[in-house]
Amino acid sequence: MLIAALDEELAHLQDRELLRTLTTLEAVHGVTATIQGRRVVLWCTNDFLGLSQHPRLVRASADAARRWGVGARASRLLAGSTALHHQLEDRLASFFHAPSAVTFPSGYLANLGVLGCLLSPDDLVLVDRLAHASLLDACRLPRARVRVFRHNDVEHVAGLLRRYAKARRRLVVTEGLFSMEGDRAPLKDLADVAQRYGALLYVDDAHGAFATGHTGRGTPEVEGVAHGSMIYMATLGKALGCQGGFVVGHSKLIRLVHNRARTFIYETAQAPPIVAAAVEGLRVVQEEPALRESLAGNVERLHQRLGPDLGRSPSHIVPIMLGGTQRARRLAAGLFGKGIFAPAIRPPTVPAGTARLRLSVSTLHTAGQIEQLVRALSNSMSA
Ligand SMILES: Cc1ncc(COP(=O)(O)O)c(C=O)c1O
Repeated sequence: MLIAALDEELAHLQDRELLRTLTTLEAVHGVTATIQGRRVVLWCTNDFLGLSQHPRLVRASADAARRWGVGARASRLLAGSTALHHQLEDRLASFFHAPSAVTFPSGYLANLGVLGCLLSPDDLVLVDRLAHASLLDACRLPRARVRVFRHNDVEHVAGLLRRYAKARRRLVVTEGLFSMEGDRAPLKDLADVAQRYGALLYVDDAHGAFATGHTGRGTPEVEGVAHGSMIYMATLGKALGCQGGFVVGHSKLIRLVHNRARTFIYETAQAPPIVAAAVEGLRVVQEEPALRESLAGNVERLHQRLGPDLGRSPSHIVPIMLGGTQRARRLAAGLFGKGIFAPAIRPPTVPAGTARLRLSVSTLHTAGQIEQLVRALSNSMSA
């Protein structure tokens, strides 16, 4: 009976063109991969700086596996906190000019853990309508009162803070650089409003950290606001090419996380080879600004070639809005036939009626690959 019910659920997804399946990458080299025996250019990874296969990170990871083993053996509060974990946290804190930092095995777990220990049913949390699923889950799980504000609408946030003045603690939660839109939150104005009404601002900069800002310090750097005016969270699994999540902030917040965050306490620590790679990645980010410069060059080239109608976002995440899921899937399949891998992004990842291709630009894309993409897109969209 259970299997029949599951079958029905899957068939329902299939009928609405929402069934998802896994694609096997048979090999990966930079931004190219082999899929079904065919070589394609990847336009859908988050390896914005091309660090996932950077020789320095690969070497650091292999050395750490030999020295520390492949797994962490225990949770952080037991035997899982190696010198490497502390080194990474110290370096993240100092990179973001924060007193302290804590890492998690993923960004998702960081959001669940940190928001979980800050929020209770007596609290209010305001979250941007287009915030990532991990933020929505993290806000709902502690059963705080959740109110959704219009995307990037600071006035709406101010109004809600005025309306819900009595909550014990009030948090405003947003992404820094939005993962599906490619636009930035008005962090300076949000920080001002939060401060004016005695609320805390929590920023998930999964897509902005390390890739944007003059020195790689992410969306706050681009928006000209100090990391200290917010609780700043990001992932190690995107521009840094590794895996894991982190939060930087006041040392008392970090101590509370050590004591209260369930995804920190009841979770095996990050594997040492990945921690060592992240430490090295952070060095590369600081020592090789050319990586960010060439990413910015690629972004500009792609936006110019796409023109103002398509190249609307100001960043390395470029959504091509298509509306219906069928249209998005058909376009993605057509592109795959032309050697381009950019699967359709469908609800519930994005709101209904806003299916899209989400192109993500990497430092490693060549001018030729950008040209190939633009030609294939304009041929497929006009066909
Ligand atoms: C905005 C945002 N937050 C958090 C996450 C989760 O990060 P991680 O993949 O490290 O779990 C993602 C990743 O998809 C994301 O896009």
